[in-house]
Formats: sequence, structure tokens, C-alpha cells
Amino acid sequence: MDLAQKNVVYLGGFGGIGQKVCAELLGRQLKALAVFDLLPNEQLLSEWQSKYPQTQTFYEKVDITKRSDLEAAYKAAAAKMSQFDVVVNGMGLMNDRMLLPTIEINLTGVIHSSLIALDYMDRTKGGQGGQIVNISSVAGLEPTAIMAIYSAAKHGVTAFTRALAHDFYFLRTGVAFVTICPGFTDTSLLHDLGDKTTFDIEAPKVYDRVKRQSAEVCAQNLVKAIELNKNAAVWLLDVGELKQLEMPVMWTPVLQD
Ligand SMILES: NC(=O)c1ccc[n+]([C@@H]2O[C@H](COP(=O)([O-])OP(=O)(O)OC[C@H]3O[C@@H](n4cnc5c(N)ncnc54)[C@H](O)[C@@H]3O)[C@@H](O)[C@H]2O)c1
Repeated sequence: MDLAQKNVVYLGGFGGIGQKVCAELLGRQLKALAVFDLLPNEQLLSEWQSKYPQTQTFYEKVDITKRSDLEAAYKAAAAKMSQFDVVVNGMGLMNDRMLLPTIEINLTGVIHSSLIALDYMDRTKGGQGGQIVNISSVAGLEPTAIMAIYSAAKHGVTAFTRALAHDFYFLRTGVAFVTICPGFTDTSLLHDLGDKTTFDIEAPKVYDRVKRQSAEVCAQNLVKAIELNKNAAVWLLDVGELKQLEMPVMWTPVLQD
């Protein structure tokens, strides 16, 4: 997908990874960029607006845990953009001491946002097709012992995104669904890990030694994945590399005679 003149909606666009991805996207001469996030970042927004005047960049306030916020933000964005070509669900929370917010921000929020976006983009409903990119995690690929709840939410994101990528839907809607699984990336999400684990017991030391990548490098690979626009792809973005994963098939239905 050539991103020039495309309309992009980015949820969590002021976050550590989100702001690097938005900057990278703006460098591709987008037509418009809608940033949905919990809090505004006036300074960053005006920096982007003056550096990339050819792109209409605007902010909509969204608490992802509130479906009404999402509906209002998509409606406001649709009034400014003729269509949504790419939607990235990139918000997140990693804190297993907060069970419900962990599920509501990482999983239910992604589901609501994807379904609302799909309604606008679905070719059978007058939309133009496009790409919905959901940020899962390596914790959405392998059970992560110290963050069991976050890991469960992220597995949910991976499963939901892969399910909606089925040809059964894609051939009708024209909307590709792509799963992004970053490895450890230097943002505030990883701060104070010890206070955010599932249980208040000392975490295995191995987690302190996991190699981290910068948010910039992660963002560059995320934009590459968007440009490749491969429906159903599950991308691993770890230690500065971008790799499409072969997902194992562990069960197939046995059919009745
Ligand atoms: N940093 C990592 O190591 C890492 C690894 C794998 C996956 N991820 C995932 O990447 C994504 C971005 O993470 P990050 O590292 O940039 O984290 P971050 O904490 O820097 O950013 C999180 C973003 O989510 C937004 N957000 C949080 N709660 C919200 C709410 N209720 N409503 C709306 N927005 C809300 C924040 O405002 C922020 O913009 C997340 O989905 C995260 O789970 C991060």
C-alpha cells in the first residue's frame, strides 16, 4: 500500500510507540491523520502540523473503554475524511494489578474500535475497504508468566484479529486485518515492571535481561508492515527486525459424514 494521500486513524498515537509511528507515517505524505488518544498532546500535534502542512492532522479525545467515545470520535473523523484507509489500534496498558482496565483497554477496546471502523470501511456497506492493524505483543504469542492478565488480553487480540482476517470476511469487506507483535520496546510501558506483575512476588531475573529495541526502529518496521498490507499476516517486530510468523495449526474440525 502506497501511503501517500491516504487517510489514517491511529489510536494511542501519542504513546511511546504511537508517536514514532505517526511521525513515520507523516513522512509518507498522508492526506489526513486522526490521532485518537486519552489525553491531548498540543505540543506534539502542533509540531506535526507545522512540519507536515500537506497532511490534515487532528486529535479526537477517546477513552477506549467507552464505546460512546469511540463512536463519537469515528463520527467526527469521518466528517473530515472521505474514507479510512488504515486504522491502527495501538493503545495499551500493561499493569496486571488492574484486571478490568487491562482487559478493557487491551482487548475489549480493540474489539469495539475494530468493529466500528469496519462498519465505515466495509465494501458491502458503502465503504472502500482498507486495512485494520491491531497491536498485540509477544505476550499475545507466548504465555507470559509475570503478566498473565496482559498476556491473556493480548492473546485475545491476536485471535480476534486473525479470525476477522478470514477470507470469509475479507473477500466481502475488502478490509485486511493485520496483527502486530512487538517485542520489548523502550517506552514507559516497561517502567516499574516489578510493581505491575500479576502477583506481588519477585519476578524471575530473566525479564530484566531481555534485549529491548527502540520505539523508532519498532515504528519503522510497523510502517513497513502496513505498506506490505498482507491480510491475516502476524508480524513479529523484535530486536529491530520485522518477520512474518508462520502460525501453527493445532486443531482442524473433524467433519461429520
Ligand atoms: N513497549 C513494549 O515493550 C510493547 C511490547 C509489545 C506490545 N506493546 C504494545 O504496543 C502498544 C503501544 O505501547 P507503548 O509501549 O507505546 O505504550 P505507552 O504506554 O507509551 O502508550 C500507550 C498508549 O495507550 C493510550 N491509552 C492508555 N489507556 C487508554 C485509554 N483508556 N483510552 C485511550 N487510550 C489509552 C495512552 O494514552 C498511550 O497513548 C500497546 O498496545 C502495547 O501493549 C508494547
